[in-house]
Order: sequence, then C-alpha cells, then structure tokens
Amino acid sequence: MQIEIERLSKTYGGNIQALKEIDLVIPSGMFGLLGPNGAGKTTLMRILAGILRPSAGTARVGMYDLKTNEGRLAVKRVLGYLPQELGVYPDLTAGEFLDYIGILKGMRNATARHARVHELLETVGLAEVATRPLKAFSGGMKRRIGIAQALLNDPQLLIVDEPTAGLDPEERIRFRNLLVTLAGDRSVLLSTHIVEDIAQTCPRLAVLSAGRVMFQGETRELLQAARGQVWTLDTTGPAPVGDLTVVSALNVGAGMRYRVVAKERPNAAAQQVEPNLEDGYVALMRRNGTAL
Ligand SMILES: Nc1ncnc2c1ncn2[C@@H]1O[C@H](COP(=O)(O)OP(=O)(O)O)[C@@H](O)[C@H]1O
Ligand SMILES: [Mg+2]
Repeated sequence: MQIEIERLSKTYGGNIQALKEIDLVIPSGMFGLLGPNGAGKTTLMRILAGILRPSAGTARVGMYDLKTNEGRLAVKRVLGYLPQELGVYPDLTAGEFLDYIGILKGMRNATARHARVHELLETVGLAEVATRPLKAFSGGMKRRIGIAQALLNDPQLLIVDEPTAGLDPEERIRFRNLLVTLAGDRSVLLSTHIVEDIAQTCPRLAVLSAGRVMFQGETRELLQAARGQVWTLDTTGPAPVGDLTVVSALNVGAGMRYRVVAKERPNAAAQQVEPNLEDGYVALMRRNGTAL
C-alpha cells in the first residue's frame, strides 16, 4: 500500500516543529527512514500509525486519510506498529503476552487466536522459549516478540521504529533478515539512525533531518550526494581539521588514514575516492548543518 504525504507538519506545544511541511511518497515494499536523533522519525511514524494527529498537511495510507478520525481508526486495523519503546509485562511468558495482546486487538475466537500465536512464535523464532517469562529475554528476543505482536492482525503495513537499536551484531542481522522476509507479503517501513541497516534491507529510503526530508529515492543513489567530496588522507601528524567531517580513522602502521567528507580538497596529499552510502549520508547532514 502506498503512503502519500503532502506538506505535512507537526508542532508540539506550540513551538517545537518536529516535521516541517514534508512531502514524501512511500511506495509499497520495504522502505527506510534514516535520520539522526530528533530528526522527526518517531513523530512521522506515530502519525502514519494513526496515534498522533498532524498539525497541518495531508497524510494518506492507501485510501485512508489520517486527518480524519475515521481514517485513523481504519488505518489501525490494517497496520502493525512496533514502537521505539515497547512496554512488555515481565512476568508473562512469550505465549501469554501474545495471547493477551490478541485479546486486546479483539481476536475473540480463542482457538484461532492460539493458533495465530503459535504460528507467530514460529515466524520470529521464539517457539522454543514460548513458556519463558519475558523478563528472561535478551534485547533481540524482546524485539522479536515486539514484531510478533505487531503481526497478530496480519497487517498490510508494518511500521517498525528503530528496532535494531541496542542489539548485538548477530541479533541485528537476524532481525534485519526477519524484516526482509516479512516484507515479501506486506509493506514495511523501517526507521533507523544506522546507514548499514538500510543498506542491507531497503531498496528505497528517505533521509530526514531536523524535520525536513533531505533525500528520497533509491538507496544506491544516496551516495551521489557525496560525489567529489570524499578523500583519504594519510598522516603521521595530527587529525585533519577544518571544514570537513571525518567518516573513519584507521591505524595504518606508522600513521593514520582518515576518510573525510569535504567540499574542497583538505590538503595537497589528500586522494579523492569513490563515495559509499555512509559518505552520502554524511554529505547530506553537512548540507543541513547537522553535526554527526
Ligand atoms: N511529545 C513531545 N513533546 C514535545 N516535543 C517532542 C515530543 N516528541 C518529540 N518531540 C521533539 O520533536 C523532535 C522530533 O522528535 P522525534 O520524532 O522523536 O525524532 P526521532 O525519532 O527522529 O529521534 C525532537 O526535537 C523532539 O525533542
Ligand atoms: Mg525516534
């Protein structure tokens, strides 16, 4: 299902502009929302999930208009949402928790509900620990139970807000792969502040910074933002300074190799190199004056 957003704004408490007249089209499939803390990712996701009202502009999910009460209600029925901070009941087991959320979501037929819970525990790889209390779960397992609860109503659209934050590398990869699998039958909107999460999963993305859309399009096109601005610099002296951002620093024997994004060649010894996605993201943030 396609999401269409036009001149959408959200202001908190009269003066905090979390979203500033954003225009965005999110086609079906898997789509990434990339941006630093405070960019407005959660605000946008909460609006799309029908939880938060926009201050101005329009947002449509499929045929539903999120400005209206009816639209927000209808969207909630076709959507699954994993919030950034999902509160779970620590003493419930994984199975009990899903069953409980199923009841809250109006799944009255106990046999069908139990079958669905069982099926989802299999999907997210938690069937073997179904009878363990959630307080014994690792961060990654909690995130997977979070996805399972979001999938109970078999949503056409799944919205997941920074699901990889705080996961160890193995769980991060496992979780990303799970999302890609789930995106086979439905649209998935994934937010993150980590370029790599998107690079591995989303063919298309939008980059958000300080409430504005800095880029939208194909993920592989993002690196174009840094074309002609990426340099490597070998030195045994101090770290490079000036109007540049150091993307990485590598210890190479006697000295250091810095990779920097800068509009101008930082010094005579600097070598221009091909940009990658992360460079593209850094270049976009520099354009907007956001320090990373
Ligand atoms: N409930 C709220 N009340 C006031 N300001 C908020 C609230 N939620 C978010 N903000 C502010 O809105 C901006 C965007 O926040 P958020 O949408 O959470 O960004 P992100 O998810 O990208 O970190 C930030 O400046 C944040 O402090
Ligand atoms: Mg957030």
